[in-house]
Amino acid sequence: MTIREAEGADRTVLVTGAAGGLGRAFALGFAARGYRVAVADRDLPGVEETAAVIADLGTGTELWAGALDVTDARSADAVAAEVATFGRGRIDVLVNNAAMYGNVTRSPLEQIDPDEWDAVMAVNLKGPWLMTKACSDYLPPGGRVVNLSSATVYSGSENWAHYVASKGGVIALTRVMAKELGRREITVNAIAPGFTLTDASLDIMGDQAASYGVDRGALRRSSQPDDIVGAALFLSGPDAQYISGQTLVVDGGRQFI
Ligand SMILES: NC(=O)c1ccc[n+]([C@@H]2O[C@H](COP(=O)([O-])OP(=O)(O)OC[C@H]3O[C@@H](n4cnc5c(N)ncnc54)[C@H](OP(=O)(O)O)[C@@H]3O)[C@@H](O)[C@H]2O)c1
Repeated sequence: MTIREAEGADRTVLVTGAAGGLGRAFALGFAARGYRVAVADRDLPGVEETAAVIADLGTGTELWAGALDVTDARSADAVAAEVATFGRGRIDVLVNNAAMYGNVTRSPLEQIDPDEWDAVMAVNLKGPWLMTKACSDYLPPGGRVVNLSSATVYSGSENWAHYVASKGGVIALTRVMAKELGRREITVNAIAPGFTLTDASLDIMGDQAASYGVDRGALRRSSQPDDIVGAALFLSGPDAQYISGQTLVVDGGRQFI
């Protein structure tokens, strides 16, 4: 076992929204660090494919894949219980990645459909709360929660009020959860990625995706999913044991906060 694989030995991670995109990249990253990996999404074939991709690496990673709706407390509770059984009674790391993102309508605030506003908040803000609540009893001392926010919170990205507000709420939720779960030696942090080239991002920007924002970055290149993975591994690993309630912007230096 390498030093990196030892980091995740006998530790279980649950990544939500792991049918593709960043969620799949996170799952692959945790597998490479030796974690037991559980992946869940409302897209069951998608997470089964993620598990198959990891299995094909031949690293012997223990895998669990299942259907999950993060807006449904019963679904959250059922998945948490199953993953805890898979994890020998523990969920050491929860990555709240599931979100409405690429399919969120971009329109001026006057034109946002109130039903869509509610749907975005239900998945992006209520979802991380419901999942953390469901997993809370299984998070041991030393446990970690990593929430996905967005650098759009700092740029105030126009015509996306519901999405941006939901991701701002994630930062606030992260701070409250850090205080409450910190009493049990559990850290809670957020990652705020900049625009990253996932399929969902391609849905939003089409042909312009590869060059979008590149000229505003300190690093003059687009962001790939693997560029975000290191932050999740760091916040979940031994080097981040005294970091909590923080939001790490990972955007190649496009925003300075
Ligand atoms: N890519 C970027 O540039 C970027 C930048 C900043 C932040 N982020 C954040 O990073 C995360 C991943 O982004 P991504 O680009 O990888 O997007 P993505 O591919 O759309 O990933 C989100 C996943 O969550 C799933 N999901 C949606 N509603 C769900 C629900 N109710 N229950 C369970 N799963 C649900 C989606 O399924 P469906 O596909 O079926 O909807 C999808 O598989 C998101 O939180 C996003 O807001 C992304």
